[in-house]
Amino acid sequence: MEIKKVGVVGCGLMGGGITEVCAKAGYPVVVLEVAQQFLDKGIGNIKTSMERAVKKGRMSEEDATGTIERIKGTLKFEDFGDCDLVIEAAIENLDEKKKVFAQLDKACPPHAFLASNTSCLSILDMAMSTQRPEQVLGLHFFSPVPVMQLVEIVKTLVTSDQAIEMANKFCPSIGKKSVLCQDTPGFIANRLAMVYLVYVIRSLESGLATKEDIDVTMRLGLNHPMGPLELADFIGLDTVYYILNAMYEELKDPLFAPPSLLKKMVTAGHLGRKTGRGFYDYR
Ligand code: CAA
Repeated sequence: MEIKKVGVVGCGLMGGGITEVCAKAGYPVVVLEVAQQFLDKGIGNIKTSMERAVKKGRMSEEDATGTIERIKGTLKFEDFGDCDLVIEAAIENLDEKKKVFAQLDKACPPHAFLASNTSCLSILDMAMSTQRPEQVLGLHFFSPVPVMQLVEIVKTLVTSDQAIEMANKFCPSIGKKSVLCQDTPGFIANRLAMVYLVYVIRSLESGLATKEDIDVTMRLGLNHPMGPLELADFIGLDTVYYILNAMYEELKDPLFAPPSLLKKMVTAGHLGRKTGRGFYDYR
């Protein structure tokens, strides 16, 4: 089954990035938002990214214009009517995602595959809110989407082999490498990375070292591109907290219990880069 047209739900950080890489790879993309101002902002970010790529000589002006022309913003699910694959990157709330999947099921052609970019929620729950659960899978991208090479392909108990075969072809077609994961909390990356982040935050709480020294150690001593506390600020402390809670609830493993420092920072609205303040001050 060949993917000719892609739909994306959400044009925020992740949805906008997914839209950008798909359009860059030559796919016409329909991207949906809940209000015009979010659509304008998201597509504006993609245009800025294209301009930067042209300035740096990574892309020709013609390719940048072509990429933008392949993107169509919409506020209506009906505009997914001729998409072969729709990737959902809406808010990380299972009830909301189930509603989105039920609407996608009504709007998309019967052959279309439906994917979620969730980082920790059950794909099977979303699949069961459609009449085509075997055509539903996870496609989990990483931030910043245009830079990070990996996509986790998530298979539920009922995902068909055809859906996995489609994903195995689609990911390289947009320049991504993929791995196959089961539909378990956190898939592979967050299952492993969240244990690391929790342990780092607990170590900071217990006075192991300063935040700067922890980050410098992991950057310079282990060649990580970012230190763990910089990374947590980059992901968003609310997102880290949300993922940990979801994993803890499902797995009942104390390894994933959110540290109290993290909870306090989220309560205080210190969410990392996006609010100007997290473990570090960006103001
Ligand atoms: N969008 C597009 N391109 C971007 C970008 C963005 N938001 N941020 C950086 N880039 C590009 C830059 O243009 C630059 O390329 P050029 O030099 O060719 O212009 C390149 O990436 C490197 O950027 P910088 O020199 O500005 O900065 P850097 O070398 O420090 O790299 C980084 C920035 C790529 C973000 C790097 O620090 C990194 O890899 N950090 C780790 C990111 C990571 O772990 N992401 C996963 C988070 S977890 C997740 O997403 C999943 C989840 O479920 C929570």
